[in-house]
Amino acid sequence: MCGIVGCILKNNEKAAPVLLDCIKKLEYRGYDSVGIATVSDKINIKKDAGQINKVNLELDLADMPGNYGIAHVRWATHGDPNKANSHPQVDNTGKIAVVHNGIIENYEVIKKELESQGHVFKSDTDTEVIPHLIEKYMDQGMDLEHALIETIGTIHGAYAIAVISLDEPNKILATRKDSPLIVGVGEDQYFVASDSPAILEYTRNIIYPERDEIVILEPEGVTIKDKQGNILEKEIEVIEWTPKMAQKEGYDYFMIKEINEQATAVKNTLTEKENIEKIVEDLDDINRICFVACGTSYHASLTGKYLIESLAGIPVDVILASEFKYSTNTLNEKTLVIFISQSGETADTLKALDIANKTSKTLGIVNVAGSSVTRRANYVIHTQAGPEIGVAATKTYLGQLTAIYMLAGLLAKNNTLMEELDRVPEFIEELLLDTNSIKEMATRYKDNNDFYFIGRGYSYPIALEGALKLKEITYIHAEGYAAGELKHGPLALIDIGVPVVVVLPPGEDHRKTMSNLEEVKSRGARVIAIGASDDAMLISKSDDAFTINPDVTDIISPLVYIIPLQMLAYYIAIERELDPDKPKNLAKCVTVE
Ligand code: F6R
Repeated sequence: MCGIVGCILKNNEKAAPVLLDCIKKLEYRGYDSVGIATVSDKINIKKDAGQINKVNLELDLADMPGNYGIAHVRWATHGDPNKANSHPQVDNTGKIAVVHNGIIENYEVIKKELESQGHVFKSDTDTEVIPHLIEKYMDQGMDLEHALIETIGTIHGAYAIAVISLDEPNKILATRKDSPLIVGVGEDQYFVASDSPAILEYTRNIIYPERDEIVILEPEGVTIKDKQGNILEKEIEVIEWTPKMAQKEGYDYFMIKEINEQATAVKNTLTEKENIEKIVEDLDDINRICFVACGTSYHASLTGKYLIESLAGIPVDVILASEFKYSTNTLNEKTLVIFISQSGETADTLKALDIANKTSKTLGIVNVAGSSVTRRANYVIHTQAGPEIGVAATKTYLGQLTAIYMLAGLLAKNNTLMEELDRVPEFIEELLLDTNSIKEMATRYKDNNDFYFIGRGYSYPIALEGALKLKEITYIHAEGYAAGELKHGPLALIDIGVPVVVVLPPGEDHRKTMSNLEEVKSRGARVIAIGASDDAMLISKSDDAFTINPDVTDIISPLVYIIPLQMLAYYIAIERELDPDKPKNLAKCVTVE
């Protein structure tokens, strides 16, 4: 949700090409507009609405003088996605430029006051108050650092900000509160960015600034201070991700690359076993678990409920992070609240985590090391999926499921589950060897306007997740239902030719879901079935089937059966000539509530 970058280079190297390269890597955070500002004898700005490649063709963003600058990709919150609302935003004089990720909640009051003092605003953004406030405080005699400190004392809301001023050359200042910001310490080149993939090409040495710390980038190095001006000793962490991991590596889109990396994501996450064993040992007195998450991570949590309740006998609730604050009265010190988030920066999830930390033990299951959830939760399990750039979560979902399965297996001391889990990468690899039938299905179903996904038990969250993937990247209306719920209402929607995806692994509920399949079929639905390759009945009753190794049991099916549904969504998006990596109106990291 907006991405920011700042970089300062030594030796008079041009910063604009580096800024352009870095900001391209953050395009998954927003693609409503892009802009870069650099400093030479003046502040140079190029910006416009649209995706980076389009704007770059028009403006040649890398062709700007100056060895330092800031850049931004926007996911619009306040103001249409147009040129005026693109960042960087500037003050009255054009000497101060700012990029911002977050929301300034009190911007209207500040704007009115500044206007009454003669400030002229040129955009509808909340961000524009920041350069004007800095200008005001510098006019009162403060230096840039103090003007920034005063500004963050005036604004309310969430922010990661980077600022440059012509009056204080060779310096980028940055700060954050409730929006992510990292500092990259390279050789003769220093960075701030919303997320590490932006700068992996240049450095893997990262510092994580805390709330309202002031980061100062200069050609000689990085200084981080508290608001009182004390210089802080911050640890430099070396991130394990490599630049190659954040590249397409020959694939057309990140999403299909990431779908194909899922066996590895599971394998790598299995290495967290020792860490999870220690956490489970430590948590021997809990008597209830609450999962809290959004979107795909919420679907992973639902699988966790089925698993932990049935195997470990611990009661489990699953709560949407944005609804969590309405369910906190029953939390206590024996409740473990588990926060699942690939980004570790989702605003709703972080708000809920802060609430839960007051009463209960908290555990984060997170893909991005160093992210806010990892720093605020009592315990952390890292999903080892590597950087995920496609906006639609795929391999991180598999990483989350793997972590949840290990947690459930260890809580329940269920060795059989752990052994089954070890075979999952092999099942995924086998499935990915031949997915032509899914590609062909996509050509047949690309023009449908409505899709329904049904499943029972472990397959119900798969149906929900399959529907979410389809709607977010193809813009086709899709709903997931518990198979048994169909007859309680949704069956009225089934008509001739409506596609119904039936998730039907082998298992004790097979017969019941098969009856639901018959029910939709007898009302004219076109049935796409996902089932075991030896399931002759399923194959004969469906219009299209994608089959999977029969050794994949019901209990581990969520880790495998979701893959054909991710692929169906992907290939339908391709057939509809849509970019699956950048679905409209969405962004990878949702840092606003
Ligand atoms: C869907 C998707 C979103 C995220 C949700 C939570 O493909 O990616 O639904 O799952 O925004 O994000 P995280 O997991 O980063 O908290």
